[in-house]
Amino acid sequence: MPRMLVTPPLTLYVHLPWCVRKCPYCDFNSHEQRGPLQFNAYVDALVADLDHDLPMVWGRTVQTVFFGGGTPSLFPPDAIDRFLQLASARLRFAPGAEITLETNPGTVEHGPFAGYRAAGVNRLSFGVQTFDDDCLQRLGRIHSSGDARRAVCMARDAGFDNFNIDLMYALPGQGLAMALGDVDHAIALEPTHISHYQLTLEPNTAFAARPPPGIPDEDLGWDMQEACQARLAEGGYAQYEVSAYARPGRQCAHNLNYWQFGDYLGIGAGAHGKLTLGAQQQVLRRWKVKHPADYLRKAGTASATGGDEFLDETRLPFDFMLNALRLNAGVPLAMFEARTGLPRSVISGPLAEARARGWLEDDAARVVPTELGRRFTNDVISLFLADKPRKAVPGITMAQISQSAGGH
Ligand SMILES: C[S@@+](CC[C@H](N)C(=O)[O-])C[C@H]1O[C@@H](n2cnc3c(N)ncnc32)[C@H](O)[C@@H]1O
Ligand code: SF4
Repeated sequence: MPRMLVTPPLTLYVHLPWCVRKCPYCDFNSHEQRGPLQFNAYVDALVADLDHDLPMVWGRTVQTVFFGGGTPSLFPPDAIDRFLQLASARLRFAPGAEITLETNPGTVEHGPFAGYRAAGVNRLSFGVQTFDDDCLQRLGRIHSSGDARRAVCMARDAGFDNFNIDLMYALPGQGLAMALGDVDHAIALEPTHISHYQLTLEPNTAFAARPPPGIPDEDLGWDMQEACQARLAEGGYAQYEVSAYARPGRQCAHNLNYWQFGDYLGIGAGAHGKLTLGAQQQVLRRWKVKHPADYLRKAGTASATGGDEFLDETRLPFDFMLNALRLNAGVPLAMFEARTGLPRSVISGPLAEARARGWLEDDAARVVPTELGRRFTNDVISLFLADKPRKAVPGITMAQISQSAGGH
């Protein structure tokens, strides 16, 4: 039976599931807004949901909060403020806790940023995607590149000095020069953090059903990744995870906790959580019902839980590596032991195999992917599957990467 010596750090993820319009590439739990949103009712549901899960985290301190979506910036500052006040009356927040809110530049024309700042939000994440207006249209985005620039400037004027820009590359009709141009435009806005995602055609999206013409092939996608990574490094943004780049000291603490297999409480429609529980210190994954209407009805009761899964020793190594191997610096093996409760000997076979293939550094104290290993992340992770054939990990979606195996 797994046994942990130290309870991992705890963070709070809050899912706000509505968007103005569903983007054709997106498989997140996001729903097109139909009519006015019931902000107060949703905040009440979030608090009821939190109250229901609180006994699992009694006495622990929340290190970060992340409002993800969906489009959290559809919620007015007073709704975010009310939630944070009610949450901080129930949970201890670490002093100076990082509190991030995801923002679509098409939803902030009236500049609610001062209100978010006053509510306690101290980090923003802008879904910019590209600065090419034709490309933005092809992606079904509701904003122009000018809207994105204006939103960033308004946020800075309101006192936000810590913000991320989400970019996507390998977009329909995009060439290498355009992808580099997007990175240059983003750097010019001086964010502290840039997330740079390769567009993926996720099952059950409009793009998967009818792929748009002109999507770059795998080789060009790889060239874009390498060239953009170099340009970001020149601009002072070091890659620390597959898709994440930051200025020194500005890595996203919330996402780092996912990748280091820390604990997180997930509240809101479809939110995923991962908690280390009880005397046996077992690891529980819990997710909430996905559909907002269903969630609003059930929040605060046991039926709001969409599923519970305890991870046993056949799953823990895989889940740990799914996260840790995304980090350029990897993790200490001591962290594997502390957070799974398993001795390092249980993974000595796959570790040796990965090292022999040149996928992991020859470092006895840490698990660190090599450049080759980073190129074949899924193959490396597959080595840690207990009882499955060793092939590429099937079906890891953007939403899973973002919410149960890492995030934005
Ligand atoms: C929840 S969204 C961010 C906030 C807001 N919903 C928006 O889109 O402006 C998270 C980010 O995931 C990325 N993303 C979503 N679907 C993707 C896909 N299929 N492939 C690559 N990146 C994707 C986008 O960069 C997006 O900004
Ligand atoms: S990418 Fe963002 S704005 Fe578009 S549907 Fe997904 S969550 Fe909503």
